Amino acid sequence: MNSMNQSIANEVPSEDDSVAPVAESQPADTVIEEGKTVGKPFADNAKFSLRDVEVFYGESRAIKKISLDIARNQVMAFIGPSGCGKSTFLRCLNRMNDSIEICKVKGSLQLDGQDIYDSKRDVVELRARVGMVFQKPNPFPKSIYDNVAYGPRIHGLANRKADLDEIVENSLRKAGLWEEVKDRLEANATGMSGGQQQRLCIARAIAVNPEVVLMDEPCSALDPIATAKVEELIAELSESYTIVIVTHSMQQAARVSHRTAYFHLGHLVEVNETNKVFTSPQHELTESYITGRFG
Ligand SMILES: Nc1ncnc2c1ncn2[C@@H]1O[C@H](COP(=O)(O)OP(=O)(O)O)[C@@H](O)[C@H]1O
Ligand SMILES: [Mg+2]
Repeated sequence: MNSMNQSIANEVPSEDDSVAPVAESQPADTVIEEGKTVGKPFADNAKFSLRDVEVFYGESRAIKKISLDIARNQVMAFIGPSGCGKSTFLRCLNRMNDSIEICKVKGSLQLDGQDIYDSKRDVVELRARVGMVFQKPNPFPKSIYDNVAYGPRIHGLANRKADLDEIVENSLRKAGLWEEVKDRLEANATGMSGGQQQRLCIARAIAVNPEVVLMDEPCSALDPIATAKVEELIAELSESYTIVIVTHSMQQAARVSHRTAYFHLGHLVEVNETNKVFTSPQHELTESYITGRFG
């Protein structure tokens, strides 16, 4: 690759690499220069502006000076070998890491120009604006209706039953689930198939009118048909929401995302339009990963 020389930099001090490496088969002579992301990490229409972000678990640094913009109403995919920090970085975007006591976040993280980590920020309100869908569908052991109504109720979004009914229906429609469940809204959500449960979790996340939906490997527990439905849904949702999806499936990243960010051992190695990352990666680590040499 023509950019190979410029991307191989001097050794980073080893104390900074104390997090146990998982990408064991990383080319031995490749060193990543801290904070130097190749490609186009910045965007004009940033929903999130993230600068020099570092995340520590106790003494160990899991995220190493990452700077990135996440553009409004786009789908951004985070890819990279297991343990490279994708989930850790994703959880910074709505302060999900707050619940991990040893976890410390440094740097500047802004949502619409406002500091996400401002001590005066209302974290409950932040998580309503920046919703999250997890790897394993986690519906509450309640009715389908009550799962979707849960957020609107606690946030006081509906005063009358009719308003709540409307929010529940619209959210289920947007999640592509309404036709399948409209006759059994009082049935327990735990009796649904895995794919339906995951779409219910998406309906639950969008019921509070979020601006952003974070998804951490949302299809890894689903079969191919359920996966295809969720991917279709992601494409539709991206017209109204900013979406960040962690995926270990490169095919999925290629299908659903506009931009892709490649992480490696806590570094953000490369960011670009998704088709560029997959057809002409600039960094040799990105190329090794997408051609299946490790991961
Ligand atoms: N709760 C935690 N406590 C301590 N270390 C953690 C915790 N969560 C993740 N880590 C470490 O942080 C690094 C990044 O993990 P993670 O963000 O889960 O990676 P990925 O999502 O890319 O697989 C790994 O070395 C992992 O062991
Ligand atoms: Mg993860």
